Amino acid sequence: MNSICGRPQAPTAFLPALRSLDDLTEEVVSSALRSLYALYCPLSSALRFGAVHEKSKTPRSEAPTPLVDSGYVSGDEEDEDGEETLAALRADAFERSHATRWLTGFIARAEGLALWSSEDACESAIEQASYVLASFSTAVEEELDEEDAGIIRQFSFKLGPPSGDEPPAVVEVHLLDKPISTGADHTDVGLQSWGASIVFSDLLCGSPERFGLRSLGSAPHILELGAGTGLVGLTLAKLLPSLGFPGARVVATDYHPAVLDNLRGNIASNFAAETSTPMEACLLDWSAPSFEAPLDKKADLIVATDVIYAPEHATWLRDCVAKYLGPNGVFWLMATVRQNGKFEGISDTVEAAFANVDELPRDDGGRVLKIIGNESLEKRRGIGRGDESGYRLFRVGWVAL
Ligand SMILES: C[S@@+](CC[C@H](N)C(=O)[O-])C[C@H]1O[C@@H](n2cnc3c(N)ncnc32)[C@H](O)[C@@H]1O
Repeated sequence: MNSICGRPQAPTAFLPALRSLDDLTEEVVSSALRSLYALYCPLSSALRFGAVHEKSKTPRSEAPTPLVDSGYVSGDEEDEDGEETLAALRADAFERSHATRWLTGFIARAEGLALWSSEDACESAIEQASYVLASFSTAVEEELDEEDAGIIRQFSFKLGPPSGDEPPAVVEVHLLDKPISTGADHTDVGLQSWGASIVFSDLLCGSPERFGLRSLGSAPHILELGAGTGLVGLTLAKLLPSLGFPGARVVATDYHPAVLDNLRGNIASNFAAETSTPMEACLLDWSAPSFEAPLDKKADLIVATDVIYAPEHATWLRDCVAKYLGPNGVFWLMATVRQNGKFEGISDTVEAAFANVDELPRDDGGRVLKIIGNESLEKRRGIGRGDESGYRLFRVGWVAL
């Protein structure tokens, strides 16, 4: 690559002016291209470029060799200062934009230049220039892909109550949280794990008795509504076998396709080492419940966290739960309290949805679906977003009037 005293040079310094292309020799142009190639295309790219050439039927003996050892890829000429300068040059947006303009102009004019010793030489130079240009957009796409990929979050919930001096057992869950849309459409909020799901999972593990988890029956059927990343369902699917219920099955539901995809991935990765998976994901829209398998069974336990963020949600959930909740089942709903912004006061709609006895769903025996218990929980430091000020935990079940 172009260098002064072994130090790499910038494209603005070594690229000849485009207007002087007609006056240059093939060697000067080829050298400029080699330098760009060495600067912007890592070794793996160089090998891929080499493979393109190998496939070509035309002999390329006269074509400039693309696989130039730049000193940057060469082990024995490695030089830390040079590496740093190269990395800085490669990251320099101004230099990259100059190189982009030069490559684009060169490709547009290359075939009309008189300097080529053969058609192959011209073709090879265009190919090399196009490859470097393409590598710029690939680099941007890779950066975007990395951002899009999201983060793996690891959760470890202590199992309570502690017994003697034994260190507490833990339930470990990992999941992929992805960035949610920043535009007007916020329907993919379930790509992230919200504060309520973390607090609720911690409570489930810390005090299973409080949620009646030890008296659910031998093979309890559990349903999660608006599961998002699936933290609560995953926690239950791992917790219940350790409480002596290996036959427990969790059906985690959501209505958003991208959220369901991510949820399925999270389930698969948490149970990758198991011979059978105690949990599955499926589509369920609260406003239009379906009863096809696996939603054809009454649930012993229904859970939902941070699912109230529109005025109609509480009523939809109430009516939906009435269709799936078994005769002795319990629905635990943790609503997030937000005192500012557009969701201010929305958690109050839960009590409002259960306020009028005449509107409450009834079971075959005439019992109504009611709020049986209700408590306020504080926001925990470091958990949840800034607009969350606490949580309301509702216990809902069938009650004879
Ligand atoms: C704020 S997120 C909470 C996700 C998860 N429960 C948590 O706490 O991390 C709300 C979830 O409800 C889901 N949801 C919203 N409306 C729904 C509907 N009508 N039917 C089913 N799911 C819905 C969203 O897709 C999203 O996953």
